[in-house]
Amino acid sequence: MRRSRTLATIEPDFLGKWEYAPAPESTSHLSIRSSYDLFIGGKWVSPKSKKFFSTINPATEETLASVAEAGAADVDAAVRAADRAYEKYWRRMPGKERGKYLYRIARMLQEKAREFAVLETMDGGKPIKESRDVDVPLAAAHFFYYAGWADKLDYALPGRKARPIGVCGQVIPWNFPLLMAAWKLAPALACGNVSILKPAETTPLTALHLARLFEEADFPPGVVNVITGAGATGAALVTHPKVRKVAFTGSTEVGKRIQKSAAGTGKRLTLELGGKAANIVFADAPLDQAVEGIINGIYFNQGHVCCAGSRLLVEESVHDVLVRKLALRIRTLRLGDPLDKNTDVGAINSKMQLEKIKELVQSGVDEGAVLTQSGCVLPSKGFWFPPSFFTNVAQSFRIANEEIFGPVLAVQTFRTPDEAVEKANNTMYGLSAGVWTDKGSKIFKISQKLRAGVVWANTYNKFDPTSPFGGYKESGFGREGGRHGLAAYLEAE
Ligand code: NAI
Ligand code: MG
Repeated sequence: MRRSRTLATIEPDFLGKWEYAPAPESTSHLSIRSSYDLFIGGKWVSPKSKKFFSTINPATEETLASVAEAGAADVDAAVRAADRAYEKYWRRMPGKERGKYLYRIARMLQEKAREFAVLETMDGGKPIKESRDVDVPLAAAHFFYYAGWADKLDYALPGRKARPIGVCGQVIPWNFPLLMAAWKLAPALACGNVSILKPAETTPLTALHLARLFEEADFPPGVVNVITGAGATGAALVTHPKVRKVAFTGSTEVGKRIQKSAAGTGKRLTLELGGKAANIVFADAPLDQAVEGIINGIYFNQGHVCCAGSRLLVEESVHDVLVRKLALRIRTLRLGDPLDKNTDVGAINSKMQLEKIKELVQSGVDEGAVLTQSGCVLPSKGFWFPPSFFTNVAQSFRIANEEIFGPVLAVQTFRTPDEAVEKANNTMYGLSAGVWTDKGSKIFKISQKLRAGVVWANTYNKFDPTSPFGGYKESGFGREGGRHGLAAYLEAE
């Protein structure tokens, strides 16, 4: 039996997308150093480990820079520098003054927005229109937002006195490198803590350029330290005895390991891990609008999004029409050069991630699901995967349960609202969900029953620094963003 089909077989005379002339963003304003040291105690220091590794552009496989690999001695030096800065400067500084430093970073990020957007796109593979319109403005917005809290912390915990925790070890992933740095640093610093930030090994460059901003903004040395390296560096950081608070975003597997290592140490911990979010579409939903939301939910940033709407639950009566609309729409998505302003779908972040996506997609085909792909031509160099979705998906299939973290959607059906809720909650994760319906009352009813940290209604993947974000179950614990996000970085007296 034939289990996979291309769009050509569904819509033979559909003409496809309009062809645009290439419109690549210029890279001439950007200076990438050939090699980056560690940013420790306000200085750029070469690693005691003497080791370096390369970071590449996943769209071209070209090496962009070589980056220091922090060993245990380097991690220790960074933690000690942070601890000194905490005692000497940061914990003593009035909130009003700390706020000024953070406002400065927010403004500098805005001034250098183009540099950061291009760098983010080159190092990670995401389309420039996303790094330009989402990642960088949101990162600046987080610094603005938490700068405002710096002198109002006693109002964050009504009736109690707020105190900082101390040295924070913050480990972030490769899907939103600059934005995750902002999510971690802005609230920590606003609350009077100091930080050692460790970006992911495939995307260290925007965090290193952010360190340059902290340097230019005259932050007291050691308040922010940026150390690069892979899992071993992260592990040395989060297990360091002087680190009082650990914040981690990444895979559930590593999150669990960190939780084990932190047990009994008295360290404060927040984890933001994986997801397998359901986008629930009722028959009364505006279907064309829903298609745009579904597309944004799963193909945004190549599906490298922990809260991606990677499962589509559609009411049976509109399944066929919705799938047909979806099949036509994915054909119009432009995949290719991430620096091109018209590109919708960029490169997969790494070869390893591409292998993982391919393996899971193959499991879907083997288990009997029907694969529909956009049929676009993939560039010969770099790591790419076409926008794809599966129909005929049984609940037991791996593609319905495991996080694919790529541009691959699993479509299932339901008949009643209760069945929709049951299927949506039938996952080990609980980070986000979406509900599409014309009826406001249904939105309230369904969203209250969904065990997910964020529920979007008639939209998807919308973020704001004032809104808390975080998960249930194996998606982690703790909240980032908003007033709730301050609690993770404060001690209440
Ligand atoms: P990962 O969890 O290994 O990497 C995330 C960060 O943790 C990186 O900075 C890494 O260097 C660091 N790290 C790795 N091992 C560590 C350890 N033992 N202690 C402390 N830090 C450590 O994620 P990976 O391997 O890059 O991706 C694997 C899968 O994880 C993806 O396919 C995806 O499903 C999921 N993922 C989820 C993310 C999310 O936003 N929730 C982000 C990245 C990946
Ligand atoms: Mg890279």
